[in-house]
Amino acid sequence: MIDPNIPQEIAQTIVDPYAYQDGDRVDQAFATLRRDIPLGVAQPKGFEPFWVVTKHKDILHIERNNELFHNGDKATTLVDVNTDAAVREMMGGSPHLVRSLVQMDNPDHKNYRGITADQFMPQELKALETRVRAIAKSFVDHMEELGRKNDGQCDFAKDVAFLYPLHVVMELLGVPQADEPKMLKLTQELFGAADPELNRTGEERGDPKKALEALSGTVAEFIEYFTTITEDRRATPRKDIASVIANGKIDGEPLGVLEAMSYYIIVATAGHDTTSATTAGTMWELAKSPEKFARAKAEPKLVPLIVEESIRWTTPVKHFMRSATQDTEVGGQEIKKGDWMMLCYPSGNRDEDVFDDPFDFKVDRQPNRHIAFGHGAHICLGQHLARMEMRALWEELLPRLEHVELNGDPQRMVANFVCGPKSVPIKFKMA
Ligand code: HEM
Repeated sequence: MIDPNIPQEIAQTIVDPYAYQDGDRVDQAFATLRRDIPLGVAQPKGFEPFWVVTKHKDILHIERNNELFHNGDKATTLVDVNTDAAVREMMGGSPHLVRSLVQMDNPDHKNYRGITADQFMPQELKALETRVRAIAKSFVDHMEELGRKNDGQCDFAKDVAFLYPLHVVMELLGVPQADEPKMLKLTQELFGAADPELNRTGEERGDPKKALEALSGTVAEFIEYFTTITEDRRATPRKDIASVIANGKIDGEPLGVLEAMSYYIIVATAGHDTTSATTAGTMWELAKSPEKFARAKAEPKLVPLIVEESIRWTTPVKHFMRSATQDTEVGGQEIKKGDWMMLCYPSGNRDEDVFDDPFDFKVDRQPNRHIAFGHGAHICLGQHLARMEMRALWEELLPRLEHVELNGDPQRMVANFVCGPKSVPIKFKMA
């Protein structure tokens, strides 16, 4: 059996939000682990020890066995012991600030997922395709306009990639366009809590107590906003997801207040930030490589493959945690009941046993068995929507984009949970 203890330097890297900003630093740490300690125990300073699951097959195994590995028993994302204790104190013993689908296990998970599951199915989404394409086209028009005003320059992340998926999901949810900047700001505070450019305090990592206060302030603002939406949609239901959540029933009873609020929050945050990061990541790769851009433009049938590859490449969700409900074995290691496991999606998506040249962005990669949407019962609810949005954008944009190149260094967010590029400056010419 391999000694499962992960060297301290690698353990620190895996939790360090700046390592994900760097990109290479975290990729190298995962590559070393896949080679030497594919399933090992990390104990970075201030953290409870946890297993780091780096192989594609082990991540799939854990995700498939959701009775053996629970989401809700411990924190679902990485937190240090002080923050965990403070959250439990604030939440009456629960390790979660919110209780959305990702913090639930069965039977609640199945029941709550069932409330909106139909809305996110491909058949249902088909009816929205024309509208999504019109929104995509309006953003391409906006980009063209920016190019005209700014000597063919824009920041594709800030000017297009962050705004387009935001608009789509807010329209679906039923949030008025005037409130989109507020939703973007709150989402960036939540996922960018470690990033001084995006978080609520404007400070570097700093005191965990202050960071948690800021985070709960963000959650409170979301809750205040969606309480008003709930009252409105109960009084006058519309054809939007907010109405489905506000009027949803489980065993004849309305959803719990925390659960309903968390439902809005997950759709209003995960529903765009992930897709935005992926879209920005695609542009980064195409602008960097004239050959790849030329192929993407010349062969429109490649768009669905490019979308899949960009999801693999960017893997905007960096991890989720599980905990074992009983003693078991994974990848040749003995796991004890209660052990905390970190599913490292970016590592699974660079696994040399599954992907040829995993560190190459291939516009024609096929098959592409990436696990960026997770797997099993918790697999991303919005995966079909995300794919549809990205296909529509690239199908609208590529035929009109004559030339594109990087116009400065792109930047990634400082975060270790949901993150990706936050700035992709480009110089471009539209046809
Ligand atoms: C869950 C990734 C877009 C809503 C997840 C999970 C991942 C993920 C990794 C956890 C899966 C697991 O535990 O097995 C992504 C990526 C996206 C994306 C990479 C875009 C490229 C979206 C969109 C929505 C969405 C557009 C729209 C509402 C959700 C929800 C869950 C979820 C509600 C919780 C599902 C559950 O626990 O049952 N996503 N997501 N996501 N995602 Fe996404």
